[in-house]
Amino acid sequence: MDRPLRILFLSHSFNSLSQRLYVELSERGHEVSVEFDINDAVTAQAASLYQPDLVIAPYLRRAIPEQVWRRYVCLVLHPGIRGDRGPSALDWAIINGEAEWGVTVLQANAQLDAGDIWASADFPMRAARKSSLYRNEVTEAAVTALLTAVDRFASGSFGSEPLDYCDPAVRGRARPLMRQAQRCIDWLNDDSAAILTKIRSADGAPGVEDEIFGQRYLLFDACEEQTLTGRPGEIIARRDDAICRATSDGAVWIGHLKKIDSEEKTFKLPAVCALGSRAQNLPESPLPLDAPADLPTYREVSYVEEGCVGYLYFEFYNGAMSSEQCTRLLHAYRHACARPTRVIVLMGGRDFWSNGIHLNRIESAESPADESWRNINAMNDLAHAIITTGTHLTISAVRGNTGAGGVFLALAADRVYVRTGVILNPHYKGMGNLYGSEYWTYLLPKRVGGQRAVTITENRLPLGARAAKRLGLIDDHFGATVAQFQQRVQLLAHELAGDSAFASALAEKNRCRLQDETKRPLQLYREEELERMRMNFYGFDPSYHFARFNFVYRVPHSWTPLHLARHRRLDWKWESARH
Ligand code: COA
Repeated sequence: MDRPLRILFLSHSFNSLSQRLYVELSERGHEVSVEFDINDAVTAQAASLYQPDLVIAPYLRRAIPEQVWRRYVCLVLHPGIRGDRGPSALDWAIINGEAEWGVTVLQANAQLDAGDIWASADFPMRAARKSSLYRNEVTEAAVTALLTAVDRFASGSFGSEPLDYCDPAVRGRARPLMRQAQRCIDWLNDDSAAILTKIRSADGAPGVEDEIFGQRYLLFDACEEQTLTGRPGEIIARRDDAICRATSDGAVWIGHLKKIDSEEKTFKLPAVCALGSRAQNLPESPLPLDAPADLPTYREVSYVEEGCVGYLYFEFYNGAMSSEQCTRLLHAYRHACARPTRVIVLMGGRDFWSNGIHLNRIESAESPADESWRNINAMNDLAHAIITTGTHLTISAVRGNTGAGGVFLALAADRVYVRTGVILNPHYKGMGNLYGSEYWTYLLPKRVGGQRAVTITENRLPLGARAAKRLGLIDDHFGATVAQFQQRVQLLAHELAGDSAFASALAEKNRCRLQDETKRPLQLYREEELERMRMNFYGFDPSYHFARFNFVYRVPHSWTPLHLARHRRLDWKWESARH
């Protein structure tokens, strides 16, 4: 790197991609401050306060104000190949069946997405929902392209290239916002593959509009089904909280719905919860925990065994874990513990390992306080079962990002391995000063020490896998891709289950647990944490309930928190001088 830069992030929110880039740039010695895109005046004020060397827009939904891009070099990340323009880049790439896609770093100017190109990176497409591509392939390509662009900027020697549609390397073109009509489902004629593509192109947002039992909904979280069939368009079954709908050549599962209602604001819910009593008479289509892994169907929790190692997968949409999902996972975990294996690997979900209690389910409950209480206790039961497993060694294999209670659930295992690109948010405070539970007061200081535990939880900043390892939060990180990560985890799990390692490691684990228990019983940690959580849920301060409401309803930010906007902190200049 030529010189450390002062970089201002302008972003709609501090989403996973912004967090990853923040971590990567900070690790390279750059100073990064964040400002949310509230309005033009606030953006201009942030720039004038911070006087950045460079402005970066990792995730912006509006144009950068002219007074800012004229004064500073502003690099915009566009999730499309060179020449692609418009607000639905990935949506079109999925609908059009592109084999390869990419990310381009452009310099902001008067025309949206048409500025000079600083760098780009391409990737092969995968049959997955848009948000999954965004959190994996797009994020990795964005890191490559942005770091190249920043190095080029810092070196001062690189001239960016104007967008030139005559250049054969420029394959993209301008495309309009994708409308509902362009991915509308025709249940009588579309086959399952076409329906899955349409729903995936709009998942996480905005969803595909459709009608179920006479009510309009947005559909999310679709998955194939191999055996069930019915009259095209008919809802033919349910499994856990998902519903199955027949197509012209089979059926698809739909896991989540958002009601469309002109009268009230709504949010995403598991399909069966969103449908309420209308889903009650649907026939159940249960699936055994150890059904063949390659069977194309809907499953949240699954268990696979390879020799002495059991792998427990929990693919919960968005990593959110409701009381019922925690209970189902606990049953599966107990099943895994009862098997004659030696090591249990907690695989979590591919995109998110876990993000803790299910805030949407809680928001929809008759008493959100009661449901929060039920949910955190269900999480705690699961964490307790993992911590106290005396028969097996356990590994958390963190393939995707994880936040809040999800991180601490991962720490409940004996070993914690994390994919290198994963972002961890080991703190609760951002959710209305939530104290948190999941035995974090036992698990976190045990790994990082008391002082660091305070810093990590109070800072409320995302941690990259490298920093997490440096701090002692995790045991190791590796794997540039999910596939590489899984391969290495398999290897490590089998090593741990081997005759030479297993017996002594298990004996040592049980000795430590007994020692810890004698020093301070787990029950005491739980009681103290829950006492604080009781105040969050039932006390006079409603901050948690407000924060949850804002989170679930996606209420736009009206200001940037000071832990992100260092340019707005009173001590910033001093801090910066030290930097
Ligand atoms: N409950 C319900 N939904 C959740 C969730 C939770 N605990 N955590 C994340 N989600 C959902 C978001 O609403 C969003 O939904 P969408 O599909 O409508 O977009 C999606 O997951 C992705 O979340 P987002 O915040 O956009 O992702 P991110 O990668 O940018 O940020 C987190 C990840 C974990 C930092 C952030 O989602 C978060 O703070 N989650 C809440 C964690 C929490 O406080 N849990 C409760 C205490 S244990």
